[in-house]
Amino acid sequence: MLSRRETLFTALKAACGISVGAASPLGTLLTGAAAAETPARPPREWTVPFGAALRDGPLANEADYRAAVARHCAQAVGEGGLKWFDLRPARDRFVFDQPDKQLEFARANGLELRGHTLVWAEVMPDWTRTISQGEAEAELIRHIETVMSRYRGKIRSWDVVNEPIANDPASRTHLRPSIWQQRLGEGHIALALRTAARTDPQARLIINEYDIEFVGDRFRRKREAFLRLIRDLKLRNVPLHGIGLQGHLRADLPVDRDALSAFVAEMRSLDLEVLVTELDVVDDKLPAATDLRDMMVAAKAYEYLDAIQAAARPSAVLSWGITDKYTWVPMYFKRSDGLPNRPLPLDEAYRPKPLMRVLEHFCGARR
Ligand code: G3I
Repeated sequence: MLSRRETLFTALKAACGISVGAASPLGTLLTGAAAAETPARPPREWTVPFGAALRDGPLANEADYRAAVARHCAQAVGEGGLKWFDLRPARDRFVFDQPDKQLEFARANGLELRGHTLVWAEVMPDWTRTISQGEAEAELIRHIETVMSRYRGKIRSWDVVNEPIANDPASRTHLRPSIWQQRLGEGHIALALRTAARTDPQARLIINEYDIEFVGDRFRRKREAFLRLIRDLKLRNVPLHGIGLQGHLRADLPVDRDALSAFVAEMRSLDLEVLVTELDVVDDKLPAATDLRDMMVAAKAYEYLDAIQAAARPSAVLSWGITDKYTWVPMYFKRSDGLPNRPLPLDEAYRPKPLMRVLEHFCGARR
């Protein structure tokens, strides 16, 4: 008779073609002793700092949530708070309450807080539509200077530009439409980076992008367009220190291992750091069974992190939330069977899942 572990491995193979040997690193991670039963590795000892996105409601109201972040993370980033919609309710108002609270929590717990984000096409308050072409440059500069100078020396790594590439790029120069792209053209990206460098010369300046990792034509075009932009910025000596791979993985899409490794290698050859900034695994198409689903989620993250690590060690890995209880995933990827999504390292009761063991494997292993 098959053991429970063998049954799960057989189901994993049938469901997503992943063949896992019981004694392989992935096999051990998927079925190892629950991480809750072993002492957590102190985050500061991690080779690659692991962190998670913070959500303000539970950060203010739930002791279990705060304890989970403090226990597992060395870094953090606000899921919101620094976005224009949150920060700029009106043209002449900056509201720093949320990021200030995130920073206070991070500092009290020895976490490094990342800044997300200064330039993004999405979640712009309505009033920004009234910014004229003539005003755009000064408004963008004022925003970056005001925000970054407040957190100078406190937030040391910024997603200066988020998601600059079109969702489905028609060419290598196809950028996402935004107020800044419309008013200032592609030059707004260099303008933002130069302003950021001037405002906080010590800060690490990052451009963050999604859908870089999968097999398929759209993803290849996205990689090519991202690469074109990055090479162009470097060629012109625009200050840029690294790129963020968001890593919103779709469990049903295969990772293009060779292309992803080659992309990371290319970034390193340009002397750029590579971060994984928003890791989670979208599980809407996966089978309902919790054990199997959690294994498939973990196996997908393993496939992804292994491809990155084949080319370079990331400078940090952050997941986009710490617990399945608080995740953006059902906003777009609700399951048709009505079951809650399970995209993150801890379950809704803050128990570590196989994904947490995969993260500990990649972030904690001393080499
Ligand atoms: O703050 C209100 C709250 O008062 C209200 O009760 C609640 C009811 O829906 O809405 C709350 O605001 C929502 C906020 O998330 C907090 O949950 C906004 O409506 C919602 O638009 C916002 O969505 C965020 C989204 O970015 C847009 O800012 C997601 O949480 C956040 O996960 C998502 O993050 C993005 C990254 O920034 C960039 N990469 C993709 C990633 C996922 O979409």
